[in-house]
Amino acid sequence: MKTALVTGSSRGIGAAIARRLHADGWKVYLNYLESEDKARSLASELGTEAIKADVADPGQVAAMFERTGGLDLLVNNAGIVVPGLLQDISDEMWARLRGVNLDGVFFCCRAAIPHMVHQKSGVILNIASVCGVYGSSAESAYSTTKAGVIGLSRSLAKELGPSGIRVNAVAPGFIDTDMTACFSEGDRALVAGDTPLGRTGSPEDVAELVAFLASDAASFITGQVCGCDGGLIL
Ligand code: NAI
Repeated sequence: MKTALVTGSSRGIGAAIARRLHADGWKVYLNYLESEDKARSLASELGTEAIKADVADPGQVAAMFERTGGLDLLVNNAGIVVPGLLQDISDEMWARLRGVNLDGVFFCCRAAIPHMVHQKSGVILNIASVCGVYGSSAESAYSTTKAGVIGLSRSLAKELGPSGIRVNAVAPGFIDTDMTACFSEGDRALVAGDTPLGRTGSPEDVAELVAFLASDAASFITGQVCGCDGGLIL
């Protein structure tokens, strides 16, 4: 059975990805940081293991990969958002944002790659954002980390293609999760109105794209930034 790790998978997009991959027959390791109850409940639903690790901490990432062993698929989904004007973002906020959204992806890729290179196959999918593609007002710091994820994904695709490893970024638009729960109904309606398909997205919308990119059906797709945004252009 092929094995996958989905970071930040106790809830939201990560949980939907884990469920969807499980349905496709993957053995999916879960990763969580805080939501232990949700992680354990999903782990028992999927008959798998939930591993606690802060992706921003290279030691905890190394320990997590010792638990999973070599992987066929890594989905870097864990992320945080710190909204605000750039001048209002403190050193600590910027360091944490960068640590989770960018260093975390770097650390997990670095840990997953040796086994994939050894077996000459593997897939890495990094959850970026439309903010990283187009930029987003009052989310410059967040958008910068997601643009970094896109740069890392494109470069790694070139670096790892000759080893039979595919790397793609997924760029969701506005998805209804805890991360966006702070938006009022009015703001949500505005975003839906700006979205050509006339609605916000669900975690399952993103999970479908991830499942496709993880599958052999996507065997000639690498180095791409695949949108899942209803046509939204910020
Ligand atoms: P969420 O907040 O519901 O889920 C994020 C998960 O990551 C949580 O389970 C959280 O505990 C985990 N996490 C946070 N820091 C972590 C760390 N240091 N180590 C391990 N896990 C950690 O948010 P959502 O919406 O499910 O987001 C998933 C990904 O999708 C994130 O990377 C986010 O930036 C991205 N995204 C979300 C969009 C949205 O509209 N919801 C739009 C575009 C991208």
